[in-house]
Amino acid sequence: MAKIIGGITTSHIPAIGRAITLNLQETPYWKPFFDGYPPIRQWLGEKKPDIVVLFYNDHGLEFFLNKKPTFSIGVAPQYISDDEGWGIATIPPVKGETELSWHICNTLVEDEFDITICQEMKVDHGLTIPLQLMWPGNTYGHIKVIPVCINCEQHPMPSLKRCFNLGRSIAKAIETFDKDLNVVVFGTGGMSHQLDGQRAGFINKPFDLMCMNKIVNEPEDLFQYSVRDLVEQAGAQGPELNMWMGMRGALNGKVTELHRNYHIPISNTGAGTMLLENK
Ligand code: DHB
Ligand code: FE
Repeated sequence: MAKIIGGITTSHIPAIGRAITLNLQETPYWKPFFDGYPPIRQWLGEKKPDIVVLFYNDHGLEFFLNKKPTFSIGVAPQYISDDEGWGIATIPPVKGETELSWHICNTLVEDEFDITICQEMKVDHGLTIPLQLMWPGNTYGHIKVIPVCINCEQHPMPSLKRCFNLGRSIAKAIETFDKDLNVVVFGTGGMSHQLDGQRAGFINKPFDLMCMNKIVNEPEDLFQYSVRDLVEQAGAQGPELNMWMGMRGALNGKVTELHRNYHIPISNTGAGTMLLENK
């Protein structure tokens, strides 16, 4: 049977891609951020996952404001990183895992999630930056990726509880998939940030740290925050926490926190990085 070994959270800001291209990892601005990744890369190197289920949001590359599925899942053999206008480098095609993807889609529909099933999907910085951070030099060729995209751009957006339950259903699918595969789950984006409007640049460190603490072994405590509360507490882009909840829902009730890093500001965000292992 396939097995979920752990979960990873990471920022997905386009500026990270630029910092990688320009080799700025050791500069004073970027070092405290990039220093959060070697322990995770080491864990990935030891555990050798076969598949990444990657929760992210599409910022307008595949789904613009005129078509906005709440939840969309990739079932393609390959995903293309395309120019989305941030001036960041694209990355080589990302391999998909069609069989497990379809099994996840079947389970989600049985569990009454109304998903959009994507046999073709261009992927943006929400997915590509995390891969670049975990596998520097685009050395992710041996990994298959299943993209799980959550609407965080246009209201109405799903609740934290709904995204957590989406993760649980995905875990059920993985654990009933009859192949010996190790799966790691990524929750990308966040933490508090607001990119435009009167509160542009807003970051809420106490709220971010509370979320990081809760996500470890009391994620249900976060259900009390509505999407409106998230916007208020964590900025207009604060609902990206939904991807962290999807990741956490896919893990067991109890997990071990192996590593964390938090640094502000990275571009406009509080940048949180975590490694959680399934007990
Ligand atoms: C930034 C953050 C994001 O989550 C994003 O998708 C794009 C930009 C930023 O802080 O610059
Ligand atoms: Fe984002």
